Amino acid sequence: MTTTQPAAQRIDQLRAELEAHNYRYHVLDEPSIPDAEYDRLFRELQALEALHPELITAQSPTQRVGAEALSAFGEVRHEIPMLSLGNAFEEEDLRAFDRSVQAGLGLQGGDLFGGGVQVQYSCEPKLDGLAVSLRYENGLLVRGATRGDGSTGEDITSNVRTIRNVPLKLQGNGWPEVLEVRGEVFMPKAGFEALNARQAESGGKTFANPRNAAAGSLRQLDPKITASRPLEFCCYGVGQVSAEVASSQVAMLEQLKAWGIPISRELKLAHGVDACLDYYRDIGQRRMSLAYDIDGVVFKVNNIEDQQQLGFRARTPHWAIAHKYPAQEELTELLDVEFQVGRTGAVTPVARLKPVKVAGVMVANATLHNMDEVARLGLMIGDTVIIRRAGDVIPQVMGVVPERRPADAKPVHIPENCPVCGSHVERTQLVKRSKGKETFIEGSVYRCVGRLACAAQLKQAIIHFVSRRAMDIEGLGDKTIEQLVDEQLIASPADLYRLTYAQIINLEGFAEVSCNKLLQAIADSRKPPLARFIYALGIPDVGEETAKVLARALGSLERVQQALPEVLTYLPDIGLEVAHEIHSFFADSHNREVIAALLAADQCGLQLEQSGELGAEFSACASLASMLDKLHIPSVGPGGTQKLADKFVTLDAVLAADWLDMRQTLPEKQAAAVREFFATAENAQRARAIEAQLEAFGMHWLSEKKVIEGLPLAGQTWVLTGSLELFSRDQAKAELEKLGAKVAGSVSAKTSVVVAGPGAGSKLAKARELGVVSIDEEAFKQRLLALGVELG
Ligand code: IVH
Repeated sequence: MTTTQPAAQRIDQLRAELEAHNYRYHVLDEPSIPDAEYDRLFRELQALEALHPELITAQSPTQRVGAEALSAFGEVRHEIPMLSLGNAFEEEDLRAFDRSVQAGLGLQGGDLFGGGVQVQYSCEPKLDGLAVSLRYENGLLVRGATRGDGSTGEDITSNVRTIRNVPLKLQGNGWPEVLEVRGEVFMPKAGFEALNARQAESGGKTFANPRNAAAGSLRQLDPKITASRPLEFCCYGVGQVSAEVASSQVAMLEQLKAWGIPISRELKLAHGVDACLDYYRDIGQRRMSLAYDIDGVVFKVNNIEDQQQLGFRARTPHWAIAHKYPAQEELTELLDVEFQVGRTGAVTPVARLKPVKVAGVMVANATLHNMDEVARLGLMIGDTVIIRRAGDVIPQVMGVVPERRPADAKPVHIPENCPVCGSHVERTQLVKRSKGKETFIEGSVYRCVGRLACAAQLKQAIIHFVSRRAMDIEGLGDKTIEQLVDEQLIASPADLYRLTYAQIINLEGFAEVSCNKLLQAIADSRKPPLARFIYALGIPDVGEETAKVLARALGSLERVQQALPEVLTYLPDIGLEVAHEIHSFFADSHNREVIAALLAADQCGLQLEQSGELGAEFSACASLASMLDKLHIPSVGPGGTQKLADKFVTLDAVLAADWLDMRQTLPEKQAAAVREFFATAENAQRARAIEAQLEAFGMHWLSEKKVIEGLPLAGQTWVLTGSLELFSRDQAKAELEKLGAKVAGSVSAKTSVVVAGPGAGSKLAKARELGVVSIDEEAFKQRLLALGVELG
């Protein structure tokens, strides 16, 4: 026995095991071991092969990583041409196809009872990718080729070898010596989204749709790039074969599947054309939830002898047809770009399109998000653009067709003045902080500076202010608000509380009863909890969650109004940018006036429901070390600030420290950085202001080691799913939040507990998969009682 013998055996064993797992995972869709175990086997094989390179074979599961790059693709002649399909768009087209099949097979006239003969058809989805032909000789993958012009394609062997679900070696036995399988290479939607996100992040090219992404990934001269792309293969037929595989299309695909070739999970046999139409409708309904894009379904006469009898037209078979769905993408002309003004003043470009029917719906407008998007797409007015509409998703402009750009195409400019109120339009700034300095960089959003003087912003602000989750004023619809603003009856949310019967009764759609009801609803909204009121103000980037955090942690509107940005960043989930938004909202004099009017007893007389107390989560995080962290002193990280805090205990002492003290606390470079930082008067002042504010808010400076224990569930994230019967969802959420927990909408490894009521589905499954604790509603109730919650 040679010394490599045991290694060779283990290598064979590992390969066989990995191949079996690949098959279960990619073809049967029934993995039997966790990914981590697969990875372990894979690494063991890699390690053994590294020790014994002479044992590496082209078919080893490790050999998918991508070979050397090519300078050009070679040519491949298809012995059996790769054809295309005729199309059916309407039901009648399919019925005509069925009649011609029956005629071709001599079946016309029906049976004795006039019931018609039913041809059997295989039904498959028509995947939207690229056709390829894979050639196996003696069970080994020897070549992969694109369709090309149908007779000659390109040799993409190195690339197809990197596609995870393409077997490098066939399973089982009995395969013909030569077996060409044909099918579609495609990119699943999720993989496409992830790829585009990665590309956008790294400044690379993004793709307009999964098909383009699949094409761009497969036709790469460097197989390593292909290897990094989430491509998959799905087989729908055969090309050249040295022996027939089966006598029907369905049996053939099932046989290929048994040999390890992936086929569609949606493959079905239909008896007669009506069953085909049922299949078309069923897949059509599920189209959006499939993991990949399809543009139709394909029906093929199931019996292979019948296929041969029917034969071919020039480039399409008489025995198969594609039944197409309405396209999700269409071309149309970009007539203009207009600008809409939103609640926070964001000026958003909107595409006005020459109306076009996309997936069955007329589309005349599409959002363009922001000017960066316009630049990314390279849009000009007059361009021919690709519009995509998938399901209920808002139509999107996916790209332009540069060849169709007219000579008089016009660039898109952001207007200098607001299209609604004429105020100046400014580009937003993003705050970046590094090395103790704040710098502002240009954001992608432009804003009208008119605030509530801008009718568009005022309308949206009022709509938001009265909405259910904000001040919850019923009976004040969008149309009424538009009228109130247009007729200048209100110029700010405060004016709502000054509305009179005489003013409302004159509005469209109001009579005595509805008018009184509205006045009552306005009066009833006068005592809002602080969080709702903050949310209602419509501060940019402050949603319901952030409003709750502000209210709970700071306890009073006064503190929220005064808080310095750095102090706000003490709160969970509030970053520097949001902190600046909040700060500058309250610094704005007009906003201050409106708020003062809302609260003044002799004006609107709102009475906020507020605790006045600092929340535990806030007081628990205040420490000298954390405050020094927030100053971002160059070269001094959390380790350094902790040392400073341990040694000096107060900010004054840090500021007063001499060089020797400092040097005994920190390494020389950091010690010098601290002294240099505080030598700048502005920095020292800022630190003092933050400290003073924390103290003014009633926060006791914590001695470093003794961090107050927060609320019982502080730091935990809970998820509620299924239907709850003992509590309303809002109630359950409120209880958890009072105990300091965060309530999230989706389950992740960081989730602490999932409360699953009856009918819980995917979230519960995910929790189980991740090993997250899940409890039922009764256990949840017990837990709340144990934590001292009083349930009514
Ligand atoms: S059969 C002779 N089956 O559609 C039959 N094609 O328009 C040739 N396609 O080039 C094709 N899914 O790229 C067939 N289940 C399916 C298909 C399918 C997608 C693509 C394929 C072909 C094109 C024909």
